[in-house]
This record gives sequence, C-alpha cells and structure tokens, in this order.
Amino acid sequence: MRIPFIAGNWKMNTTSAEASVLVGEMQEGLDRIEGVDKVLCPPFISLAMVAELLRGTSIKLGAQNMHFEEKGAYTGEVSPLMLVDLCQFVILGHSERRQYSGETDQIVNRKLLVALKAGLIPILCLGERIEEKEAGRTEEVVTSQVKGALDGIKSPGELVIAYEPVWAIGTGMAATPLESNATIGLLRRTVTELHGEEVAQGMRILYGGSVTASNISGFMEQSEIDGALVGGASLKAQEFVDIVEQSAAIKKGE
Ligand code: PGA
Repeated sequence: MRIPFIAGNWKMNTTSAEASVLVGEMQEGLDRIEGVDKVLCPPFISLAMVAELLRGTSIKLGAQNMHFEEKGAYTGEVSPLMLVDLCQFVILGHSERRQYSGETDQIVNRKLLVALKAGLIPILCLGERIEEKEAGRTEEVVTSQVKGALDGIKSPGELVIAYEPVWAIGTGMAATPLESNATIGLLRRTVTELHGEEVAQGMRILYGGSVTASNISGFMEQSEIDGALVGGASLKAQEFVDIVEQSAAIKKGE
C-alpha cells in the first residue's frame, strides 16, 4: 500500500511574515489528518522558520529547488547539504524552472543524484507542453523525461514523481483524472523497466496542475494516482486542508 502524498508548492509567494501566518492557519487542521503524507514547500528564505513552527507535528517540509553541487563558487545558490538539516524533501525539475531557468533533463539528473546522495527525497516533476500534447507526443515526452532524470541512479529510494502537464499548471484547466491515470500508469511501467516491479509499485506518483478542493477527488479515485502537488490552492489554508482531508478519506475507502 502506498501512503498518499499531498505537497503544497508555494512557489515565489509569501514573505516570512505571511508564511508564518499561513502555517498558523493550516497547521492544526493538517496535523490531525492521518494516513497521508503532508508536505509544505515554502520559499527558501522561510524554510528555517517553518521548520521551527512544524517541529513536533506530523507535517513535513520540502524545498522548491537546489543546486547540483554540494558547495563552491555558485553565488546565490543553495546546496543539498544546506537543505538536509532543514527539510526532508526537495522539488526538482519543476516546469517553471525548466522554462525560466533553462533546466534540462541532464541538469535535473545531476540534481537528483546529489539530492539522493545527501539524503533528501526528491519530488521529480515532469510533464508535456501543450504543443507536445497536441502532436500526440505525451507518452514519448514523459518517458524520455523520466529516463533522462533517473539516468545512472542505482536506487531511487523514496523518490516521488509528480506528473504535471505544463498546460495545466496555474491555468485552471486541470487534466482529466482518466488521462492522468493512464500517463501515470505509463510512468510506473517505465520505472518498472528501470528499477523493477518492487520499486515501481512502492513509488508514489502524483498529479499536479490546477488541483483544487473541487477536483481533487476525481484524481484520488484513480488507482495509479497517489496524491497531488498543489500550487495556487496550497496558499489558501482551508482549501489545502480540505484537499488533504478528501485525499486521505478516498484512499482509506471512506
Ligand atoms: P497549480 O501549480 O496547482 O497552481 O496549477 C501546480 C504546480 O506547479 O506544482
């Protein structure tokens, strides 16, 4: 049985003061929901403070990115060794980083290798762009992304994958649960090819892209979908708690 997994990606939102208020608004509600991994990914600058606020709760913490070197002359960058003291997870290869910061599968692969070495659990993001979907290339694109990202990785550990169709992110146009389930099934088969049945069956694979409290249930009802990476709706405390609550209930079969 895979434990469902819901992560909130706050992106470049919230000052430290706002982050503290947001944690305060959702902490109690999230903490009491059992049977689901709950992860908050605030901006770097708030990680230490949020780690302090979450101490002693069941809520986990993740970063939104990191550099692929452990240390050195990389002005403005943050290394896995700095993160591992503060958080358990790190989002890697998000489409916004691929789009605005030129991250390639090769860079994502380097980041994955160093994150795993440092003891962080990567949340690997991938997904097709609209023109790739319209050209019928979704399968080919996501297969190549997952193979590229996992290249040379002997043991992916507890790695989580987030399938996020680029055209669904921040647009209010979520993919359909059925279509996403099929693509996530394909990703799981690709992981089986690379790492065997046991690893693939144990790996959490999420859907991401315009998830809200109104559409989460459709995704969680799918057998291959283990959770969600939530952007915009994770900045609304009540809605995020609602998303986590529904997810836990559906996977428990309530
Ligand atoms: P969204 O973002 O929920 O705002 O579409 C999802 C993501 O980018 O992870």
